[in-house]
Amino acid sequence: MQGVLATSRTQGALEVRWEDRSDTVFWNEKADSYSKAELTNEAPEELEALRELAAELSPETILSLGCADGRRDPIPALELLMETGHTVKKVLCNDLSPLLLDRAAANMALVPKEACMQSLFRSGPMHLLGSLEGSQPEPKALLVGAYRFEMLLAGGLRSYIRNSRLVGDRLSFGLYRLQTSGRGNRAQVIPLPLTVGSSASSRDLAAAEGYLNASVREAEQKDGANLGVHVRGTFEADERGVFSSAWFTRKGLAELLRLFFSPDRYSVSINAAGKCWLCRINPRDSKPRGLVTLLNNVLGNILPHELTKSLSAVRRMLG
Ligand SMILES: C[S@@+](CC[C@H](N)C(=O)[O-])C[C@H]1O[C@@H](n2cnc3c(N)ncnc32)[C@H](O)[C@@H]1O
Repeated sequence: MQGVLATSRTQGALEVRWEDRSDTVFWNEKADSYSKAELTNEAPEELEALRELAAELSPETILSLGCADGRRDPIPALELLMETGHTVKKVLCNDLSPLLLDRAAANMALVPKEACMQSLFRSGPMHLLGSLEGSQPEPKALLVGAYRFEMLLAGGLRSYIRNSRLVGDRLSFGLYRLQTSGRGNRAQVIPLPLTVGSSASSRDLAAAEGYLNASVREAEQKDGANLGVHVRGTFEADERGVFSSAWFTRKGLAELLRLFFSPDRYSVSINAAGKCWLCRINPRDSKPRGLVTLLNNVLGNILPHELTKSLSAVRRMLG
């Protein structure tokens, strides 16, 4: 599958090829198991929202960012639109992981031609997607499904421990902060003195949940926006990459989206739906003719130092 770029310069140093990054290694490892994993299938409300929005917009284009193997997004939307007699002109599938994107291409090949006229596949971090990929002149709506911090405390952490074989046997945590300065906005992780191993007892987990809750509440009283909590999963014994996953408070997510989708140009709604915040962003001046999706916590999986670059790139795609 075609990559978007092999190298880029960051702060004067040559960044590692994105194919070799620890998060790419992590997601590549998931290529065979992604659709079947318990963690993949914990947010069914998102699929309902995706189908509803697709039916409402009948979009000409769909840009599925962080699509993984495509089976949750965009394929269900394409299938539904086909049933209503609508053909999507162009679908762009993007994922950080070249191996997951290969699966997406194989799965999309099974989708009938009446569902979609053209599909493009681009691996790599979404902020490096070429400007042509999203530059169709039509305005687009954006659907984001991002994990709720409350749900990390109400089962999410325990689910990570049950699935430690997949997400890492050592979890470390940090406050996820948004720093705004004259030089722009950037997300930052402030490490918390807490690590949880795969053998943690229920009592250990209850203590960790209580500590995370207290830390977030305290951080919310301080200056600057607290987005929620960042979780980093690593494997003790072998090199299976690094898992990066943020869980957002409503206030933090609203603040983040407001910075990129200003209220005078976009309407933004955020609703709790099971494990996720479902966010819908619409351009105010025109009816969207395309759809951009970031589902199942892609927003939380983007590496912290790439979060604001990614949101800038997504905003450009909305036209
Ligand atoms: C939890 S999966 C979600 C997949 C799919 N959207 C779904 O609904 O199941 C997160 C995906 O985001 C991808 N990802 C992480 N960071 C990314 C980035 N910067 N650009 C593009 N994709 C990214 C990962 O490779 C992974 O496939």
